[in-house]
Amino acid sequence: MEAKKITSDTVRADFNDLLAVVHYTRAAHELGLWKSERILIERFFPDLTAPLLEAGCGAGRVTLGLWELGYRQLTAFDFAEELVDQAQSLAIERRADGPAGITFLHADATALGTCHRLSDKSFGGALFMFNGLMQIPGRERRRTALRELHRVCRPGAPLLFTTHDRDSTPTERALWRLEALRWERGEQDPKLVEFGDRYFEEAGTGRTFMHLPDRAEILADLAATGWTHEFDAMRTELAKESRPVLDFSDECRFWVARRK
Ligand SMILES: C[S@@+](CC[C@H](N)C(=O)[O-])C[C@H]1O[C@@H](n2cnc3c(N)ncnc32)[C@H](O)[C@@H]1O
Repeated sequence: MEAKKITSDTVRADFNDLLAVVHYTRAAHELGLWKSERILIERFFPDLTAPLLEAGCGAGRVTLGLWELGYRQLTAFDFAEELVDQAQSLAIERRADGPAGITFLHADATALGTCHRLSDKSFGGALFMFNGLMQIPGRERRRTALRELHRVCRPGAPLLFTTHDRDSTPTERALWRLEALRWERGEQDPKLVEFGDRYFEEAGTGRTFMHLPDRAEILADLAATGWTHEFDAMRTELAKESRPVLDFSDECRFWVARRK
């Protein structure tokens, strides 16, 4: 019998799982923005009054970080209802709720048109942090999400997001060469959708789907979806993160693109 491929339903269920909810809620309460995130947000989102859209907000780690930096026109969404509920509770606790506070929505990044509260909006910037974009299975669906963000942003709006990088170290490159051989022989995990995908389980986090691209793939995806590449760098090139941040998250590549 053919194994069932990972779909967005698998990913949403994994993020709604209690283990993941506790993990991301704790990070939202205790960790806040990473140094590298703050550096790039302050550099590429200089206007505190611009309406910003945060995709894949989870339990609100970045959303509340943005609020604390002084951004006041924030809309944040996630397709995992349990996480959005946690983000909303944290906003209430930090007095970032109410009519002048953060707007939280339950929405799928690949189908923003179905969320009527986003239909008449035109954002001055967008963020999809901590590899959320890479947790969408299937390259064409990731491109759909990039097109959707493009559609709801104004010309010139910046987009900040992160990914892993398959080529970041010699060890990574060697491991991915072995994985390429498995795909050539048809011996890869049959649940995976494309080369570059991983589906793994970690104590304390639960199951995680992640697509690991190389740099060329992201450059091509940005060009194909109306975004102009402006900047990219590995996190270690940007800041020395604290031990709790390093425990929470692996090395990643930051990307900034601008809407054409
Ligand atoms: C690694 S978590 C990061 C959460 C939060 N931004 C943070 O940094 O703590 C990725 C988030 O992206 C969300 N996500 C993944 N695919 C999505 C989609 N298609 N639409 C909306 N949210 C999505 C997940 O539910 C999850 O909350």
